[in-house]
Amino acid sequence: MVNSALVSEHRPMTEEADFLQIKSIDHLHFWVGNARQAMYYWWKGFGFTPVAYSGLETGNREFASYVLQSGQIRLVVSAAYTPASQIASHQMVHGDGVKMIALEVEDVEQAHRETTARGAISAWAPRQEQDAAGLYRTSAIRIYGDTLHVFVDRSQYSGVFAPTYQPLKQEASATGLAAIDHIVANVPLGKMNQWVNFYHRVMGFRQLLHFDDKDISTEYSALMSKVMQNGSGRVKFPINEPAEGLRKSQIEEYLDYYLGAGVQHIALLTGDILHTVRELRQRGIEFLRVPEAYYDALPGRVGSIKEPLDAIRELGILVDRDDEGYLLQIFSRPIQDRPTVFVEIIQRHGSRGFGKGNFKALFEAIELEQARRGNL
Ligand code: FE2
Repeated sequence: MVNSALVSEHRPMTEEADFLQIKSIDHLHFWVGNARQAMYYWWKGFGFTPVAYSGLETGNREFASYVLQSGQIRLVVSAAYTPASQIASHQMVHGDGVKMIALEVEDVEQAHRETTARGAISAWAPRQEQDAAGLYRTSAIRIYGDTLHVFVDRSQYSGVFAPTYQPLKQEASATGLAAIDHIVANVPLGKMNQWVNFYHRVMGFRQLLHFDDKDISTEYSALMSKVMQNGSGRVKFPINEPAEGLRKSQIEEYLDYYLGAGVQHIALLTGDILHTVRELRQRGIEFLRVPEAYYDALPGRVGSIKEPLDAIRELGILVDRDDEGYLLQIFSRPIQDRPTVFVEIIQRHGSRGFGKGNFKALFEAIELEQARRGNL
């Protein structure tokens, strides 16, 4: 079943190749049309706790912004107060979407210098913002579409998030979401290898896996994907591009509605997917459903797993196995009106894969939705 290429997975990375030494994904910053309502969606729907706010009351006259936390995951949602804000024009073009993938590093100056020397385009030079809680240091580079990587050093900052942000005291409503597993990009036809090279050459990442159109195709549409990961293996960025098919692929639909490359989905890790998905469903989060026949074939395909099959079937969770173990996953419907960004919930039992065995059933479910939108 596993015929994807595993590329230099077991070769340790040298210090030089992994020059960024990324400590963690610091946060994901969504630019949206209505930050207050987006905050409620992540809070009441996904179980994130709102922990910080920036806006008119805190001296921020350009945009309203909320920081939400669940386990190690930090999300920021921001919306413009005026049409002059770049958040407003970004939102008009792309709709709601991920503007910044922020990476925590030791030295934002070195990260900026080394990446731009290797060809990255600067979004902003190293800068520091200061308030009573200390120094918050960042720099940023452009990546695919209008998306940015922000480098963050908060080692001398003790505030709740960044200058102008003040703590919010909201009750937790946890659903067990613990960490970001991976963040996937969609790029236009013919651009996947360019971004694979970017992550390799500019960011010091290595290619972990690739999937071609034979792995990821249905009767109608196809895509290709390569997975890039950093030296520690903790940061994983798959990159998709559409492949030739009879009909419009889900990647093309995304590119049409996001008006270019951008973040397709964020995969959030849980230690108990049954609990998490039950909670999310009760709170109104909608997930894709695969046909019942998927569950009839499941025991034969993945063998024995710890989780009860009837609960897996009832909640619509997908299972895949490879030679290292198995994983459980489920995909939300798009989280805004445009058929663009969505969320994956994932639990891993040894497998480091991405659910290749589920691609066909999953993409057929996505195509059903595309057809309903008149986009297939
Ligand atoms: Fe994924």
